[in-house]
Amino acid sequence: MEQPKDCVIVIFGASGDLTKRKLIPALFTLHHKKLLPERFAVLGVSRTEYSDEEFRGHVEQSLQDFGDIEDASKGEAQSFLQAMYYTGIDTKNTEAFAKVKNRLASICDERSMPRNIIYYLSVPPAMYPVIAKNLAAHDMQNEARGWKRLIVEKPFGHDLDSALELNATLQDAFQEDQIYRIDHYLGKETVQNIMALRFANGIFEPLWNRNYIDRVEITSAESVGVEKRGGYYDHSGAMRDMVQNHLLQVTGTIAMEPPAVFDADSVRSETVKVFHSLRPITGDKVAKNVVRGQYTESTVDGNTLKAYRDEEKVDPESRTETFVALKLHIDNWRWGGVPFYLRTGKHLPTRVSEVVIHFKRTPHYIFSRDSNENVKCNQLVIRIQPDEGILLKYGMKVPGAGFQIQQVSMDFKYANIAEGSLPSAYERLLLDCMLGDATLYARSDAVEACWRFVEPILDAWKDDGDQKLYGYPAGTWGPKEAKSIFESPDLDWRYPCENLSSDGEYCEL
Ligand code: BG6
Repeated sequence: MEQPKDCVIVIFGASGDLTKRKLIPALFTLHHKKLLPERFAVLGVSRTEYSDEEFRGHVEQSLQDFGDIEDASKGEAQSFLQAMYYTGIDTKNTEAFAKVKNRLASICDERSMPRNIIYYLSVPPAMYPVIAKNLAAHDMQNEARGWKRLIVEKPFGHDLDSALELNATLQDAFQEDQIYRIDHYLGKETVQNIMALRFANGIFEPLWNRNYIDRVEITSAESVGVEKRGGYYDHSGAMRDMVQNHLLQVTGTIAMEPPAVFDADSVRSETVKVFHSLRPITGDKVAKNVVRGQYTESTVDGNTLKAYRDEEKVDPESRTETFVALKLHIDNWRWGGVPFYLRTGKHLPTRVSEVVIHFKRTPHYIFSRDSNENVKCNQLVIRIQPDEGILLKYGMKVPGAGFQIQQVSMDFKYANIAEGSLPSAYERLLLDCMLGDATLYARSDAVEACWRFVEPILDAWKDDGDQKLYGYPAGTWGPKEAKSIFESPDLDWRYPCENLSSDGEYCEL
């Protein structure tokens, strides 16, 4: 493994949730695996005034609460904590950035480090352009004495216009190749493995097209509701929160052409071509191809699950969707005529993200004498999380008389090969940014193309009119109407588990 060059990560929003839950634990795991640069430091920045020592106390707490390295020695923890620094400023105040600049200079001098800096924006989205401009006002993006990179968290814009504007502002301050836009789904080991599965094996790629694939299903289900994030979510909804970014990026990885070489530009140019080939869903096509839902109150195992509209900081008359199912087409040579079905939702029966490739049936079925009711198409199930793995389903003869066919699986589970847990998405993404590898980060044109695709759907919903919003009881697989988008009434989604037995009602909201 290549080791990154010495660098400092400046975390804006250092006292926030993401820092303590994800960033600090991921950095510590990298430290434990000896994947951090030889000389390394973190400079936490946020409004609260902490001393370095106080910040180190918070970092230590976050490792206790969210770290997953059990066998770390005291020495390891100490050397990590000694690399933590803190500066309190109001990030809206341009002058205050001089303080950060000076602090960075003194940390680099103290540790004899080059001025290689990553600025990580773990702040509310309204602050992304403000901080980028303030950094530029102090020439802190200038690469003269070492490289400078900017990591931007999601959401990247609220719609196409705001994404364009944000891209323009960031690109005013930084060069595009300095900007790393996080989509943590791309950092997931199992999503990266889609490329390995497709491009490192001789057997799948020849089948990976309209001649052999009937349809593709991509699901990201969550068992939790919006929890404490109602304030954000009510202005976002499942389309913006999950489809515009994560599900479309997974679609891009499944559907892209093989890149000429495996580098950031080639890989991302191929996924962007997929986004440019998405057939627009506009006007009256929205109701036919997209179903939205919102969870309603239900009782599961004697426990009441709140309706979305009763969640904290959610409008009691909200029409925000907590569930989306949609059918899309990729109008290109490889995928002409193959529907992709995407589905995501909160308060579904279980947490699961997976891709199912449904292969076409055999052209003729010769075993019909012995009933063909069990004959299903071959399926390749790529399980992104949890129980990460890959499942190939195929038919085999039931032993004994006759020729009955039954579906069985060839099953690969990461748990059987990986030592301990899989690396977290943040671990991979932070390491890649330190190495200057943006392959798993979203490029500006991809983000814009994805907005271009979802925006007409959001517009149709905004106008409401005949766009229905279906209520589904929390703990079920979403509105029953989600099945209506399939090309044939015989088709249905794959349900990795049953609906929870719930006494809520399906209704129109
Ligand atoms: C985030 C969304 O981007 O992804 C959340 O904002 C969602 O609403 C989360 O819960 C899902 O991520 P994961 O990795 O748990 O599937």
